[in-house]
Amino acid sequence: PAPRHLMSISDLQPSEFSSLVRNAAARKQAVKAGQAPVSLTTSLTGQTVAMMFSKRSTRTRVSTEAAVTMLGGHPMFLGKDDIQLGVNESLYDTSVVISSMTSCMVARVGPHSDVANLAKHSSVPVINALSDDFHPLQTIADFLTIHEAFPSSKGSNAGLGLNGLKVAWVGDSNNVLFDLAIGCVKMGVDIAVASPKGYGIPDSMKQLILSAADGVSSPGKLIETTVPEEAIKNADVLVTDTWISMGQESEKKKRLDAFAGYQITNDLAKRGGAKEGWKFMHCLPRHPEEVADEVFYSPRSLVFPEAENRLWAAVSALEGFVVNKGQL
Ligand code: CP
Ligand code: NVA
Repeated sequence: PAPRHLMSISDLQPSEFSSLVRNAAARKQAVKAGQAPVSLTTSLTGQTVAMMFSKRSTRTRVSTEAAVTMLGGHPMFLGKDDIQLGVNESLYDTSVVISSMTSCMVARVGPHSDVANLAKHSSVPVINALSDDFHPLQTIADFLTIHEAFPSSKGSNAGLGLNGLKVAWVGDSNNVLFDLAIGCVKMGVDIAVASPKGYGIPDSMKQLILSAADGVSSPGKLIETTVPEEAIKNADVLVTDTWISMGQESEKKKRLDAFAGYQITNDLAKRGGAKEGWKFMHCLPRHPEEVADEVFYSPRSLVFPEAENRLWAAVSALEGFVVNKGQL
């Protein structure tokens, strides 16, 4: 049978998404308590996970390598100058060859079609480690972080008990936002997005985000605006990311001008009327223009637990897609 791949959170049923998050939480707890179950250390013994990265990475690389190691496997890092990824050889040939020798490919690419093409021709699961459109491992870690910061009184097994929370995204509409928004809709969390005119969510992506509500009894709502204060009103969590994603370096000056006024500061949160106990999240790497130090390094900031949670997200995704063959 064809392997199951993780391209985007949109590939997952809400119950599958929440079980990936819950498993990440369970693994984190068990390992921290010194009680790693045997399966955590032996389930990938003798197996190699190819990590094909055509862009830089700190968190995704370290968390994936560490997660494969924890599961007893061998992470093989293949940077853009190491292999012929879309250069000098077709993605078809690369995918057939690498998947014939490994148990999983984790790939960071530019155009989403690159990782989709790898998946299409692979005999093993492919996990998207960031494409221009999606960042599913980040979203699993982000929901683990939200789940920890807002423990639910409602022990719903189907979801994560986060219904009614509001996330405000202030900044660029990018890959990290798209999967986060899909996760929010599926988990019943409202998400308000404030981006400057011309930097909003493209129509086709908006359709995909809205379709995440299909079959969900109380889906989260998507709200779009160009006014940061409007998005922030009553928000529990304020989130942003870089204004200049990898591959957009030549637009730096234009983007810095367009995003003036979108920096997350305590004053902006106050003017916008965020909830009293609001928290801050950012996938990192971070630059001061999108969020001031007073927020980024404050007790409200969840950014370092969020980064650590990438490890537990990677463990959970590898268990789900590689060890358990997509039975989530
Ligand atoms: N958040 C994230 O994916 O970081 P890296 O680019 O450092 O992997
Ligand atoms: N939006 C950023 C995320 C990096 C983790 C980028 O694509 O560069």
